[in-house]
Amino acid sequence: MTVPHPILALARRARSVTVLAGAGMSAESGVPTFRDAQTGLWENFDVTALATPEAWRADPATVWAWYQWRVALVRRVEPNAGHRALADWSKTAGVQIVTQNVDDLHERAGSTVLAHLHGSLFSPRCTDCGRDAEIPDPPPEPVEHLDPPRCLHCGGMVRPGVVWFGEMLPREPWDAATGAVRNADLLLVVGTSGVVYPAARLPALARSQGVAVVEINPEGTDLSDDMDEVWRTTAAVGLPQLVAALR
Ligand code: APR
Ligand code: ZN
Repeated sequence: MTVPHPILALARRARSVTVLAGAGMSAESGVPTFRDAQTGLWENFDVTALATPEAWRADPATVWAWYQWRVALVRRVEPNAGHRALADWSKTAGVQIVTQNVDDLHERAGSTVLAHLHGSLFSPRCTDCGRDAEIPDPPPEPVEHLDPPRCLHCGGMVRPGVVWFGEMLPREPWDAATGAVRNADLLLVVGTSGVVYPAARLPALARSQGVAVVEINPEGTDLSDDMDEVWRTTAAVGLPQLVAALR
């Protein structure tokens, strides 16, 4: 499959490219997307029911066990060719990465991530004093309950450093993301279903500023109709082809 000409032309003309990444960006690394069936121990859990302040208040040990399972899973996988292609591209062009993902695969591929809109698995913090906390090593096998660690400074309970449903996004990454979207020549929307706001509002913000918007996703999404171009391919197939074609 070659890069569709209209998309290649948009990328060639772009001096500044912003990428809005979703779970599909990490799918080919082996990290399940959110709306795919969960695998293994967690297949019977509704992720969205775990990723809420209410779930945390009601049962922190289950929520912490789930996040530690994700930490263990991310640590076991590698960045895919899509992550690596973006890292290569950012060496020769202005590529800003805004991600909804909480993994560190872009960073491990060599990219600098401008904004983790939904936080990171690797930045747990104290619920009392707010200080960053150490990431304890996850258990060797997934478990259903795991008491969250205590803050070394104040003894408060440590929570995952991610944004839960119903929580406000941290101001700084959101402002960085909207700036990168407004000032881009091209917004690539890679591997997101576009159902979670406010991140899903970014493509419309881009278009309102005259920024070309391209969706890279093997499936159609809620955002597809508002795209300038769509490319039904995957992150690890499409992005390396695009970056190679720009050389
Ligand atoms: N390459 C590109 N896209 C892919 C791939 C792939 N290999 N595999 C799947 N996709 C697409 C799917 O078609 C889908 O549109 O990735 C998208 C994944 O959608 P979701 O699972 O809804 O993930 P995302 O859009 O990132 O979810 C947004 O919701 O659960 C919350 O906070 C969580 O950040 C997450 C947010
Ligand atoms: Zn503390």
